[in-house]
Amino acid sequence: MIDWLGVLTVLVVCSFAAVCFFGAPFVPTRRKWAQQALELAKLGDRDLVVDLGSGSGTILRILAERRIRAVGFELNPILWLVSKLRFLKNNFIQVRLRNFWRQDLPAGTTAVYVFALTRDARKLEEYFLKQAQKSGFSVITFGFELPTKKAAKHTKGAFLYNF
Ligand SMILES: C[S@@+](CC[C@H](N)C(=O)[O-])C[C@H]1O[C@@H](n2cnc3c(N)ncnc32)[C@H](O)[C@@H]1O
Repeated sequence: MIDWLGVLTVLVVCSFAAVCFFGAPFVPTRRKWAQQALELAKLGDRDLVVDLGSGSGTILRILAERRIRAVGFELNPILWLVSKLRFLKNNFIQVRLRNFWRQDLPAGTTAVYVFALTRDARKLEEYFLKQAQKSGFSVITFGFELPTKKAAKHTKGAFLYNF
């Protein structure tokens, strides 16, 4: 007989563990720190913000409360589903089940938030340089710095870059 609870547990564990091959594991930014980090970019209602690895939607929620449009890319199907349901009736927020490395930023993106591992900093900087060939945007990194680009501003653990 199939142990469905066991199968489900394995699937849940795998969906969280597998993401580590593609980027940072799920650790939500604390709300207070996220607010301080987002302050760096002086966002307003004309902005379109992308959260690369949007997790359960902490950043998206803060942006939704400020009526700022945002798109979250999330690779973990469980986290994607949680945040998809969370913002089902919210016109400001879209959550896409995607590997962000394989995605272009949506047209009109003005700012990007990313909480990632230092391991991926160089690759992210290259990704931003490539994406900025079409049009510029600002980037807020949380928990790490980009290796060669100089930050325009910073606060506790967060850095703002202009691309
Ligand atoms: C450190 S958590 C940050 C979550 C959220 N941005 C926050 O600040 O609360 C990183 C998130 O990125 C997701 N992730 C990692 N690599 C990814 C990839 N290549 N594409 C999409 N999401 C990814 C993980 O599943 C995880 O939810």
